[in-house]
Parts: sequence; structure tokens; C-alpha cells
Amino acid sequence: MSGAQPHPRRALRADLLDFTGDPGMGAPSFGAVRHRADHWLLIEHGRIAAVQPGAQVPGSEWLCEDYRGQLLIPGLIDTHVHSVQLDVIASYGAELLDWLERFTFPAEARHADAVHAQGQAEAFADALLAHGTTSAVVFPSVHATSVNALFDAAQRRGMRLITGKVLMDRHAPEGLRDDVPQALAQCEALIARWHGTGRLAYAVTPRFAASSTPEQLAMAGALLQRHRSVYMQTHVAENRAEVAWIAELFPEARSYLDVYHRAGLLNERAVLAHGIWLDDADRALLADSGAQIAHSPSSNLFLGSGLFDWQAMSDAKAAVSLASDVGGGTSLSMLRTMADAYRVQALRGVRLSAFKALHTATLGAAQALHLDHEIGSLEPGRAADVTVWDWATGAVARGRDALARDLHERLFAWMMLGDERNLVTTLVAGRTQYKRRNDDSGASETADDANARRAAAA
Ligand code: GUN
Ligand code: ZN
Repeated sequence: MSGAQPHPRRALRADLLDFTGDPGMGAPSFGAVRHRADHWLLIEHGRIAAVQPGAQVPGSEWLCEDYRGQLLIPGLIDTHVHSVQLDVIASYGAELLDWLERFTFPAEARHADAVHAQGQAEAFADALLAHGTTSAVVFPSVHATSVNALFDAAQRRGMRLITGKVLMDRHAPEGLRDDVPQALAQCEALIARWHGTGRLAYAVTPRFAASSTPEQLAMAGALLQRHRSVYMQTHVAENRAEVAWIAELFPEARSYLDVYHRAGLLNERAVLAHGIWLDDADRALLADSGAQIAHSPSSNLFLGSGLFDWQAMSDAKAAVSLASDVGGGTSLSMLRTMADAYRVQALRGVRLSAFKALHTATLGAAQALHLDHEIGSLEPGRAADVTVWDWATGAVARGRDALARDLHERLFAWMMLGDERNLVTTLVAGRTQYKRRNDDSGASETADDANARRAAAA
């Protein structure tokens, strides 16, 4: 993703939407919503410089781009996704443990091959950008090759990415198991090489409690003690059979979450996917530790795992972010993820507002990751990670959009009816990394050449 140098001063004219706070659960509340219809977003040297009304046209030193009538929001943040599972997306007929054995582990084993790992990492990074996701917390495989390939792909695109070698020293097939000394050495080397390099950060990544021995979990805890700024990611309480298995494997623990607590894995940089089968004590522990649950509704529906209790998390003041969990999830689109989150809550008798959903996928996730100084909003000084969207595509969605009576109704229809086909362009640190073609071929342009094209046309 090389391409021309981006123009140092770009100005995008669109309907700007971001959040200054949490809109909260419950009925749509406009309090924390910042909607600036027809405004310029000024980007200087990769950062947001200012916002000004559409009528106030920037001077000739700015490269002006007109997205009037389209929606500009911060780049979306996916807090749990597997880069090595694109091959198993939409695999039929299994619940979690069976799905892992039959589809997922064989696909991940192929990432021992460096050429395969590199090709898949490139495809994955491009796919995130083509879905409007500019920051992600990612599971690769146990192989250091897959971690290096992913960091490398993200770095060349300028993306904010958090990942780390998956730890598995039991209950996994040959070729996907490591051991404590080998895993420790690899983690230390990967942290030294990548953590804090540009926009990259390392996450200590025990897959889930079933596939790590207590010794390996203790090693992961010791790593977090030694490297205070690294993240931790894992899975917790996703599926009932899984929860029963963990209770057998760790009889001394009060709960599945408590296994991680005892190993010293819960802190404000911990991201735990799913968290469906938790109790109030678990939620209090999450709130106390500052750890977040990466709610993955598409995956939970697809694998039949259960219905996440967002309201209980909110009541406990525990952090929730949103995640695609591909390949358990069936789409990298955070719009589809938000729409599935709405459906899951509807099945619980709760209505998730579009404001709450979009906040969670932008500023909320940035805050939960302690990265809100850099991502998640259109505040001056933030990295210019932004996406531009059609409010509607296709006759039905356009008809619905035209009838929307207020911003929430419009945004809700966008979130429920839209997907990556609504995405017009993705900028990462002020550089175009995805641009939809206008030729109706369905093909897309992923190189950073739109800026050069616009400059040439200007
Ligand atoms: N639990 C352990 N590994 C996985 C995985 O790859 N996907 C999901 N959804 N859950 C898991
Ligand atoms: Zn997962």
C-alpha cells in the first residue's frame, strides 16, 4: 500500500458525526451526539486540524474534496477479530467447541507457512479498510510468522492495530501447540520488536482457559506484570458447554472469569470476547479491574452461543465494546455488527439506540482501550482515521432514508440497512487507504492513489 505521498492539507466536506460522551442505554438521547451537517473536516499532516462550516471554503493551500450529502464518521474500531479465520467464515452446522476442531484449527495450522500467513495478513488488512474499520484488536495464530505478517501489513497501511501471538499449550492439535518456555521467548521477542512501534501495540493472547495450562496462564500474567503497557486478549464465557468444561479444568476457580483473575490477567488493558454466561460477581470484577467485554453479536447468533446481557454490564458499570469476531462472526462490517447487536438486545427486550451502537464502535471502544487521545472522534489533534458513507444505497434504503424524520431515525436506518457497500472512502492518518470505484463494477480500489488522482484532476 505505498502510493503517492498524501497532500499535507486535505479538507473533506460532508455531514460530520461523532460523540462527545456516552449516549447511554435506553431511548435515543441526543446529548452526547455531535452532528455537524455540511461541514469541512480539515486534516493536516495526518491529524485532524479543525472543523468549519461548509460555507467557509478553505484556502487554496488545501486540497478540497466534496462529499456533500454523505456521512463522515471516525474510523470504526473492531475489538475482537481473527485475521486467520477468513477461510472459515460461514462454516455450517457447529457450536463453538466442534467448530474450533472441525474448521478453525485446520485453517489456523496453515499459517505455519510464512507465504500463506503473509498473503492472508495482507488480504485481512485490506478487507478491514474496505469495511471502514481502521483500528482493531486481532487474534492471529500461534505462529510468530502470522504475528509478524499482521503487524507488517498494518504498519504499511498506518493502522492502529493491537495483536499478539496466540498462546495454546494443550487441547489443540499438533502444529498449533506451543510450550511455556518457547511461548515466553517468542512473546518477549515480539514485544521488543513491535510494541510501541508506530501505531502498533502488543497483546498477550491466551486463546481461552481451556487451551492454556495453569502454568501458561501464569506466564501470561507475569508478562503483563513485566510489560505494563501491553494489552491482554482472550475469550470468556461464550458457550455453555465451554463454561462447563472450564469448571472441570479449574475446579478451584469461582467462575470462568475468575480463572483469568487468579492468573493476574484482568486489568484496564484486557479485552475479553463474548462474556455471555457471566454473573453479577463477574461483572463487578470486570468493572473493578477496568477490563472490557468485546461483544460479538454476529458470532453469538451464528454459533448459537447466547444473548449477551448488555444492560447488566451497563448497570455494573463494566466496559463493553463491539466486535465482528470473524470467522465466528459472519461479516467484517461493523454496521452489520451494530445491526446484530440491536437484534440480540431486542431478543432480551432491550432497544439499543443507533447512537449507543455507533458510540460503542468509535469513542466508546477508544476509551475502553485508553486510546481516545488518538482515535474514536473528530476532535482536533486526533489521527485522521475517518470514513465516508452513503446514507443509503439501493432504492429501498434510499426511500427509507428520505422518510427519516430526525437524525436518530436516519442513522438507525443506515445501521440496519447498510453495510460495506455504503462505504465511499477510508482514510488512515490522513491517507486514503480505500476508495470505492464509481464504475458500478463492484470492484474496489485499495491503493493510496485516490489523492494523487484528485490532485491530478485539480
Ligand atoms: N474460543 C476459543 N477460540 C475461539 C475462536 O477462535 N472463536 C471464538 N468465537 N471463540 C473461541
Ligand atoms: Zn474470537
